[in-house]
Amino acid sequence: MLDFQRGRFLLGTVAVIAVCFFASCSSGSKEQDKIKIKFSHVAAVDTPKGKAAQFFKEELEKLSKGQIEVLVYPNSQLFRDNDAITALLMGSVQIISPSTSKMTTMVPEFQVVDLPYLFPSIDNVHKSFDGMLGTLFGALLEQKNFKLLAYWDGGYKQLGNSRRVIRKLSDIKGLKFRIMSSKVLEAQFRHVGGNPQVLPFSEVYTALEQGVIDGQENTWFNSYSQKFFEVQKYITETNHGYLGYLLLTSQKFWDSLPPDLQAVLSEAAEKTTEYERKLAVEIDTRDRQRIIDSGKTEITVLTAEERDIWMKTFREIYGDYPQWKELIDAALNH
Ligand code: LMR
Repeated sequence: MLDFQRGRFLLGTVAVIAVCFFASCSSGSKEQDKIKIKFSHVAAVDTPKGKAAQFFKEELEKLSKGQIEVLVYPNSQLFRDNDAITALLMGSVQIISPSTSKMTTMVPEFQVVDLPYLFPSIDNVHKSFDGMLGTLFGALLEQKNFKLLAYWDGGYKQLGNSRRVIRKLSDIKGLKFRIMSSKVLEAQFRHVGGNPQVLPFSEVYTALEQGVIDGQENTWFNSYSQKFFEVQKYITETNHGYLGYLLLTSQKFWDSLPPDLQAVLSEAAEKTTEYERKLAVEIDTRDRQRIIDSGKTEITVLTAEERDIWMKTFREIYGDYPQWKELIDAALNH
């Protein structure tokens, strides 16, 4: 009886080991066959880009029927600002979504997008990116070994600072503003007497807190999710510039994929873009209200006359870029 029980126990143990072995072998090999994509970005999870990155991951994994696995690294966890662009070309990550401003270091023509008061509405932005501007940028990116998957919205930038209410352009004089790495953003602040300083996104909070910079320009959702509003007492609702993103992979990674998975990547990007563009407006409006409700920030809203003066003065710098006249006119008049 004892022998019989021992025999049964042994048989059971062998069976369990065999099942585990085959299960782990088969799932192990599947795991190995999976194409792993690292998606690095700098924004918080609860932002248009953060949510779109997650949506894109889910779409890609679903549409590829598990052949692709995406690991999303938000909040500059993996790479900061321009480092992510180099990392993409080196193959350390496969997807990034930098702002067009940061891509100016690779494709200077993106500076056009940074011109203040260029896009009268988000509809103009979409028409430009889905039209002449977008086609040109796509081709220029290809020349630099990038593959453009989509244009995503950030939104309009507002002007925040910790020193004083900014209502007139002369209030900007002498203040230090953090900018993304773009020559046009530099020119924009210099034109009105401000001191621009390039800093990575992940350093802005501390720089504001410690007084290394006096202010920065960003969307409502970035000012909220990065808690800038806690260390910049004043925000002027200027809507003076547009923050937009590129969804990019490298040409090398793209070429390494079979045509069916390239198609999956394009389809997932298209679906996500539709979702992202709607979300961008919703989240920006939501976070504007959250900042107001916090009571920590004094919001200055420009009158129509004041806004006209801001627009006219900032647009004076367009004259310094005659080479982009056609692109500027297209963006303004869509
Ligand atoms: C910034 O650096 O201010 C923004 O581009 C961050 C982002 O990607 O939203």
